[in-house]
Amino acid sequence: MNDPSDNRTPRDPRQMLSRASLALPRDHVRAVSKRTTSSSAMAAPKAASGPPRSAAVSYLRIKSDLHQQLLTDLDRRNLISAGEDQLAEVVEDFVDQALELQDLPLNDGERRQLVDDLLEETLGVGPLAPLLADPAVTDVLVNGPYQVYIERFGHLEKTDVRFRDTEHLVRIIQRIAARVGRRIDEASPMVDARLPDGSRVNATLPPVTIDGPTLSIRRFGRRRLRRDDLMNLGMFSPAMRQLMAWVVRGRKNILISGGTGSGKSTFLGAAAEAIPDRERIVTVEDAAELILDQQHVVRMETRPPNIEGLGRIAARDLVINALRMRPDRIIVGEVRGGEALDMLQAMNTGHDGSLTTIHANSPRDALARLETMVLMAGLELPSRAIREQIVSAIQLVIHIRRYEDGVRRVQTIAEITGMEGDTPQLQDIFVFRSRGRQGKRLAGDFVATGIVPRVVEQMRAENIEVPLHLFHVAQ
Ligand SMILES: Nc1ncnc2c1ncn2[C@@H]1O[C@H](COP(=O)(O)OP(=O)(O)O)[C@@H](O)[C@H]1O
Ligand SMILES: [Mg+2]
Repeated sequence: MNDPSDNRTPRDPRQMLSRASLALPRDHVRAVSKRTTSSSAMAAPKAASGPPRSAAVSYLRIKSDLHQQLLTDLDRRNLISAGEDQLAEVVEDFVDQALELQDLPLNDGERRQLVDDLLEETLGVGPLAPLLADPAVTDVLVNGPYQVYIERFGHLEKTDVRFRDTEHLVRIIQRIAARVGRRIDEASPMVDARLPDGSRVNATLPPVTIDGPTLSIRRFGRRRLRRDDLMNLGMFSPAMRQLMAWVVRGRKNILISGGTGSGKSTFLGAAAEAIPDRERIVTVEDAAELILDQQHVVRMETRPPNIEGLGRIAARDLVINALRMRPDRIIVGEVRGGEALDMLQAMNTGHDGSLTTIHANSPRDALARLETMVLMAGLELPSRAIREQIVSAIQLVIHIRRYEDGVRRVQTIAEITGMEGDTPQLQDIFVFRSRGRQGKRLAGDFVATGIVPRVVEQMRAENIEVPLHLFHVAQ
């Protein structure tokens, strides 16, 4: 191993895990790089070819050009996964030379920023840097040091990126966590965080994940899938798109259900596009990922406990607080626990037009899980009372599924129509009907069941003229 930083690293992974460093890595890197004076045999970066002079664009362009040059160079010199001390030195040298040799239209502030940004991008994620430099990559999934997958254009591919060993991966995970003020170690072996660019990161360490540390980066902001993109990807039909817009505008409460990665949050964002711009929206998320177009948005994010186990802010606290902010709409990114109760109560007391998602296998399962979550609020409510709350609070359940062909589709739009005995009643308005595989893709249609939902009848009674042809069964 020719990595100098390894000499100071404890070899025992357990020792490694408990060696919790809270120093922000950039400070560390700066400190290290100030000490070093050696100049490397780095090839002089090529002169930039006539960059545009418009400030912000030109900075971003220069940074991304230099980042590419830097990565190519590191790769050629086999330094991509070198230790951070060595890398810091190389990056500083590279930037020094680039600034000296290339006619870069940058002011002093931008020059300093450039060094910081490149250090951050190169050192922050180690061997993952080239993957994250590719804007087409939407997810990066690391299962132990030798298996790195990416999702690109909706498909998972295995890459040949590898970490040197488990320690190397752990070090990078700790660095990513430290960068956003979190710690991951043996005592708390899981971390869920949002990076400064909005990407979501989850990391775990053994023994929670048996076969090694994992890292899941779900990138954000690179390619926002909007309502029409989703429709073009075959997630729902034009009639379903219209129904959604009507019910969102008409302030119906909607529960979006589905498995992990089925596209619930994406769908939620698309549904929210129909919220009128004049409304005040308060969002509550565990790791803020929603982007809304509306001007009047207050975003809230839960907070895990700090190292002393204090300071936790749960979704419940935020939902309760959101109610005091005079919202027109409350959007809860995903319900997972006791906040379900507060959300239902809000929906039942005039805060209409709320949207949320829930992890479930079917619309019926979604209702059952919601009931369990309400119980997590700790009040001893009889189950019938909870079900009545659910039935009067929520009008539609939209269930999403990632099908065998990898396409994410709305499987069902169902309406909650009431209770029969102790059981909430659901009726399907739209369903996806599969006709089996045709080549790689599943053939099938989104079909209306012919039932006009009661919410639509109500809206029509209020003179909101939802077109009824949406619900006609295709011949
Ligand atoms: N209709 C779709 N077609 C292709 N990719 C999609 C679609 N909907 C969502 N995605 C992608 O799938 C991934 C998971 O979506 P997300 O909404 O976060 O799922 P969930 O909230 O159910 O876990 C994201 O990378 C997202 O961009
Ligand atoms: Mg989600």
